[in-house]
Amino acid sequence: MKRRHFLKSAATAGAATMILPEVRLFGAGAPNNKLNIALIGTWGRGEAHFNAISTENVVALCDINEEHLDFGAKRFPGAKKYVDWRKCLDQKGLDAVVCCSLDHTHAFVSNWALNRGLHVYCEKPLANCVQEARVVRANYLKNRHKLATQVGTQRHAIENFNRVRELVLDGAIGTLERVSAWGNRQLPRPGYLPAAGEPPAYLHYDLWLGPAPYHPYNPGYFSGSSGMNCLQWNMFWDFGSGQVGDMGSHTMDLAWNAIDAGLPTSAEGKGDPFNPEVTPVKLETHFDFPANSWRPEIKVSWYQGGAMPESPTKVIDLNQIGHGAMFEGNKGTLIADFGSRILVPLGNRADLTYYKPRTPETVIPPLGGFQQQWINACKTDLKTSCDFEYSGNVIEMMLLGLVAYRVGKKLKYDPEVGRVTNSDEANALLSRQYRDGWTLDG
Ligand SMILES: NC(=O)c1ccc[n+]([C@@H]2O[C@H](COP(=O)([O-])OP(=O)(O)OC[C@H]3O[C@@H](n4cnc5c(N)ncnc54)[C@H](O)[C@@H]3O)[C@@H](O)[C@H]2O)c1
Repeated sequence: MKRRHFLKSAATAGAATMILPEVRLFGAGAPNNKLNIALIGTWGRGEAHFNAISTENVVALCDINEEHLDFGAKRFPGAKKYVDWRKCLDQKGLDAVVCCSLDHTHAFVSNWALNRGLHVYCEKPLANCVQEARVVRANYLKNRHKLATQVGTQRHAIENFNRVRELVLDGAIGTLERVSAWGNRQLPRPGYLPAAGEPPAYLHYDLWLGPAPYHPYNPGYFSGSSGMNCLQWNMFWDFGSGQVGDMGSHTMDLAWNAIDAGLPTSAEGKGDPFNPEVTPVKLETHFDFPANSWRPEIKVSWYQGGAMPESPTKVIDLNQIGHGAMFEGNKGTLIADFGSRILVPLGNRADLTYYKPRTPETVIPPLGGFQQQWINACKTDLKTSCDFEYSGNVIEMMLLGLVAYRVGKKLKYDPEVGRVTNSDEANALLSRQYRDGWTLDG
């Protein structure tokens, strides 16, 4: 049996029976079972993946900046080099892709990779509009019996995420009613950068634009430090979704991990006056979610850029928590940031007798390395914490909030079909126009 088929059939068997022991078959000492990985985006966030993927065979590198491509090639000298990710994904013998290119290419790369039978780790955010989120999630669901996916919300591995989930599920705040998440990063921009010179020879600017509408070259889009350059372009509608897809992906994950939600049935939003070029700095969006097996209907909200939920008590100033989440129940409130939490029992019935802490044996076990979880999943049971269903739902809700903000009224949403039932204007904003030659689901 060929190595690749062995990997795939082992993964399928794992998915069917859920008992495939991962370490014995695919331990670090089994070099033939290494994944053949393509890394797309070989500098910046891409570098943050060098160590994790160096345990595997990195056989392809792709970057539209040839200097960055050479930077990646110094670490992985045996890999083939590409400037166009579409050609890279057609390299024979690939098993998996790590995508660290720009937000407006994430859903494209992910769809193309899934369609070619490749496991995908995609940096956050998974999509740049509601339709992209739905297409990539649907593609994943079709392939989940054979492919592992993970969205790059690596903070999910912080054990505080587990403690927060336990407190909410186990009733430490009574019955859950409302959930909020917020972030205070503010990057005001006047508009797209003006034309300024020609792109340097090593930079394939047309490929950088990719499916996005044309905007003239300006070195300002490339002037950030490694791993932070996304802040130079992610506020512009055609390249990103501002803080919604940036810190919103991480911080809403802290909330989402504890609420077992699917998709909302409504969305509304308000914030800075609409700017057709730049996403809002100040924004708040609100959503209704149906009940599930352990909680009633809840309201979920996102706040950014100075908009904030109200603190349950004057002694806690939520503004001191830059990126946080708050869970309000009928007996108390839980406030958390990525690494810590505060439980605030409220009222004279909140004596905590209704809540039984877990024992060391019953706490949710640590996830371990976040990238490693995906690598293991590719080889064994295909299970990850932030797969394209979970993270696809989070980003679909967040991006629907931006649509509601633009339309300026409360939208009714049919999550089954992904349509707004009370606004044609909103439906037109669920998808994007792409430049000729670029196919979302190719
Ligand atoms: N998980 C996290 O904590 C985290 C942190 C930072 C950035 N990110 C995400 O990672 C992504 C990259 O962010 P960054 O700050 O490194 O951005 P960046 O602008 O520095 O781009 C990263 C690399 O991708 C290359 N690139 C751009 N377009 C490409 C394309 N079409 N094909 C191949 N390569 C391409 C760039 O030349 C660069 O080398 C963003 O989507 C961002 O949201 C995630």
